[in-house]
Amino acid sequence: MTWQELESLCMACEMCPLSKGRTNVVFGVGNRQSEIMFVGEGPGYHEDMRGEPFVGAAGQLLDKMLAAIDLDRRAAYIANIVKCRPPGNRDPLSEEQNACLYWLRRQFALIRPKIIVCLGRVAARAIIDQNFKITRERGVWFERKGVHIIATFHPSAILRDEEKKRPAWEDFKSIRDKIKLLART
Ligand code: URA
Repeated sequence: MTWQELESLCMACEMCPLSKGRTNVVFGVGNRQSEIMFVGEGPGYHEDMRGEPFVGAAGQLLDKMLAAIDLDRRAAYIANIVKCRPPGNRDPLSEEQNACLYWLRRQFALIRPKIIVCLGRVAARAIIDQNFKITRERGVWFERKGVHIIATFHPSAILRDEEKKRPAWEDFKSIRDKIKLLART
C-alpha cells in the first residue's frame, strides 16, 4: 500500500465508534523517511480541530523537548495510537486501540523507523507490553526485530506534574545518544 492509499483509506475510516465524534482524522505528520517515530495516545481538542498531532499545550512541550535534543518535529514522524479524538479526552478503549492499530502498523511498515518513542502509558502498553509500568519502565530500551523502542512520560503528564520533567529529560538525552549511535552503524 502506498502512503496516498493508506492516508485516503484512513481518512474515511469507520472501524470504531470514535469516527462518529471526530472533526478530523489525525493521521500523522512529519518526515516519512525519518529514522525516528514518536507515538502518543490520541488527539485532543486542538488536534481534532487541526487534523494534526500534538499541536496543543502538550505539543508545544514536545516541540521544546525535541529542540533540546536538536530534533525538529518535521525531521521526525509523529502519530498516535488512535487517530480520532476520544470523547472528553478519555483513554482510548482497547477495542478502539485494536481497530486503529491497523493504521499505525502500516505507517511503521512504510517508514521502517530505527527508533520508536512511546509517549506515555497508553502508547507503551499498545506497543511494548500490555502490562507496561510507565513509572518503573520508562527510559528502558527494548529491541524488537531490530527496532529500538523506548517509553517516556507523556508531555501532558509532565505538564501536570513537574517532578516528571527531570526523568523525561534523561529519557530524551538517552534518545539523542541512541540516534547518534545508530547513525554510526
Ligand atoms: N496527546 C496525544 O497523545 N496526542 C496528541 O496528538 C495530542 C495530545
